[in-house]
Amino acid sequence: MNKTVYVGMSADLIHPGHLNIIKRAGELGDVIIGLLTDKAIASYKRLPYMTFDQRLQIVESIKGVSKVVSQETLDYVPNLEKLKPSYVVHGDDWREGVQRQTRQRVIDALAKWGGELVEIPYTQGISSTMLHNAIREIGTTPDIRLKSLRRLLESKPLVRLLEVHNGLTGLMIENLSEDVDGDRREFDAMWASSLTDATARGKPDIEAVGVASRIVTMNDILEVTTKPVIYDGDTGGLPEHFVFTVKTLERLGVSAVIIEDKTGLKKNSLLGTDVNQTQDSIDSFCHKIHLGKHACATRNFMIIARIESLILGKGTDDAIARARAYIDAGADGIMIHSRQKTPDEIFGFCREYNCLSERKPLVVVPSTFSSTSEEQLIDNGINMVIYANQLLRSAYPAMLETARLILQNRRALEAEPRMMPVKDIISLIPGGH
Ligand code: SPV
Ligand code: MG
Repeated sequence: MNKTVYVGMSADLIHPGHLNIIKRAGELGDVIIGLLTDKAIASYKRLPYMTFDQRLQIVESIKGVSKVVSQETLDYVPNLEKLKPSYVVHGDDWREGVQRQTRQRVIDALAKWGGELVEIPYTQGISSTMLHNAIREIGTTPDIRLKSLRRLLESKPLVRLLEVHNGLTGLMIENLSEDVDGDRREFDAMWASSLTDATARGKPDIEAVGVASRIVTMNDILEVTTKPVIYDGDTGGLPEHFVFTVKTLERLGVSAVIIEDKTGLKKNSLLGTDVNQTQDSIDSFCHKIHLGKHACATRNFMIIARIESLILGKGTDDAIARARAYIDAGADGIMIHSRQKTPDEIFGFCREYNCLSERKPLVVVPSTFSSTSEEQLIDNGINMVIYANQLLRSAYPAMLETARLILQNRRALEAEPRMMPVKDIISLIPGGH
């Protein structure tokens, strides 16, 4: 019997480096590819461009591949213990960085049956990172972007969004990543907040900025990014108008709209019962959801229903009754909002919501209960977290202080240490030279 050789890969953007590894592996025995699932890939880097099935089709037809199995985790060990291959072949580029520990676990597992890790020198001049950068420069299509939110929901324990209100904030979310103890973190998607879009225009958050203007902001953001967007649709307006908002957003490649179950003049939720706010009736809001779903051209666009019962002091029972009804009416997800300092009432809701047989993805916005960690949200079954306003809330005080310093000193010198150099801001955006 031939020896078996295990090669783990994502195989999203196949390049000569991959083919070289497969060829060298083939010289040692029968090649089994462990194809990483979307979940396994999302646990340490960005979602692949191609779905698992598309990647499978490609890898299966590469010369020299005997068999393809799915690898469900970044960790090779479960598959290795099942298959007990004589060799694992990998590029030598994983000795440092996020995959270092994975590598060590491979070596330890192989040692149990006398297997060996063979590392192939990295193919110079081409890499997935280079291809990724090239693709990002080209951008994305509305269809690919739109679908990517559902894929993220299927692949990540918690999808993380941050507020955007212009192209620059979009670029930040697009490009920022942080390595924390070997864990690479980034924002998965963008929240087109009504509060921050209105505030950035010097207007109140009362639906006074019309959809046409909000779409101008959307276009600025979509033009310079590839990550998915959820649009804050406020109340959705009149049901007969909401259908056009849905059509516009879907056409642009926005992945989802969240509408809240309020009616009349909308006020920001964080004002709670300090102001007059009216909750819509269940029937009337269900009708709006139903019309919105009917207006969708594909099944990919999501309408997420936002429940304001806790904001308005109506309690968990009312919120759960609404969640049921909204899902029945076709909602693809539920957002539950709260303005408490602790997450207790949100988690109380989660306990009941998670038992619903028709349960859909659950979204929360921890603006007031900001001490709550993402880990706690995951433990309570929450699928999506939106950091809804933090960028603008930090930008405004910083700008205000600079303006003050100029007035106080009648020159800008004193503000210099607070600011980035002119050269840096010019080169911040590609193509500025
Ligand atoms: C927004 O960001 O505009 C929201 C969330 O709708 S909140 O401000 O908490 O209502
Ligand atoms: Mg809003």
